[in-house]
Amino acid sequence: SLPKDVTIIEVGPRDGLQNEKNQVETEVKLKFIQQLKEAGITEMELTSFVSPKWVPQMKDAKEIMTRADLVERSIALTPNAKGVELALEAGANSLAVFVGVSNTFNQKNINRTTAESVEALTPVILKLKEQNVFVRACISTAFYCPYEGKVEVDEVIELCRQFVALGVDELSVADTIGMANPVESYELFTRLRQSFPSVLLTAHFHDTRKMALANIFASLQAGIDRFDSSAGGLGGCPFAKGATGNVATEDVVNMLNSLKIDTGIHLDTLFLAIDTIAPHVSHPIETGMYRLYQNE
Ligand code: HMG
Ligand code: MG
Repeated sequence: SLPKDVTIIEVGPRDGLQNEKNQVETEVKLKFIQQLKEAGITEMELTSFVSPKWVPQMKDAKEIMTRADLVERSIALTPNAKGVELALEAGANSLAVFVGVSNTFNQKNINRTTAESVEALTPVILKLKEQNVFVRACISTAFYCPYEGKVEVDEVIELCRQFVALGVDELSVADTIGMANPVESYELFTRLRQSFPSVLLTAHFHDTRKMALANIFASLQAGIDRFDSSAGGLGGCPFAKGATGNVATEDVVNMLNSLKIDTGIHLDTLFLAIDTIAPHVSHPIETGMYRLYQNE
């Protein structure tokens, strides 16, 4: 049966903008975050503390994190100990580490093999859990890798097991390049739910092939009630060939509304947040619900 409530983790200010060529002004990002909060978002990835040489768009991470109107769970992405230190100094109350199941993708994204990344993150995560910091582990290329092809369910489970053993609070498991289908989504999330009953389990779909809503529905049926999405459907990882936007928050909320599943998100306010960011990104925002709103 379907859940009554679903939590949306808004990733627009981070995943949504990281691949954007125009350098978006810090003030615009802060207003976007503020309006997302007003729309009812309680968990949000605000920015990432990564190398500004790798991802120039995120070079204002410190200013974003120190000045933003924080939500209950204000998450910063951190690839390594240095990022963790900077994010905590800036006031992040939750951190997200990220590792790809596929070695080739992980190398291109964070310049280490998957095993090297887990090894380097191990003492970092253990220390964060001693300090009671909320830790989310983002697991990339959990279905397909743009360089290595199909990824096996057992490999995903094995990598997740390593993070769960370190005490992470949440797994956000990602279809990085939007290639999963609903049967694959149902199977992976069913296995994950059975394997890790005590962690928060979140699905992160990119909508490259317009299968994200179908995948979300399949994941709901597998018992998942947490989804990452991005206002305006912005997003994509700069180091994953062929990656495009995340599933759009407004389209997810609309689908859930029509299924009588509550998200606590007000669409009218969400559209105002999209109005704020739309003029600053280099392509028109053409998600189903945003277009309807614009034509009203
Ligand atoms: P590296 O070159 O191997 O790092 O990059 P290094 O440790 O050798 O350091 C090189 C330089 O970077 C040094 O500066 C460091 O101080 C600096 P220099 O001496 O040359 O001036 N540096 C940093 N600066 C700021 N913050 C830091 C930091 N760390 C080192 N944290 C590194 C390794 C991880 C830094 C690099 O590869 C990187 O920043 N990668 C980020 C990639 C990224 O942001 N990808 C997108 C996010 S993941 C994603 O989108 C997927 C997800 O959405 C799920 C899905 O859809 O799959 C989550
Ligand atoms: Mg992503």
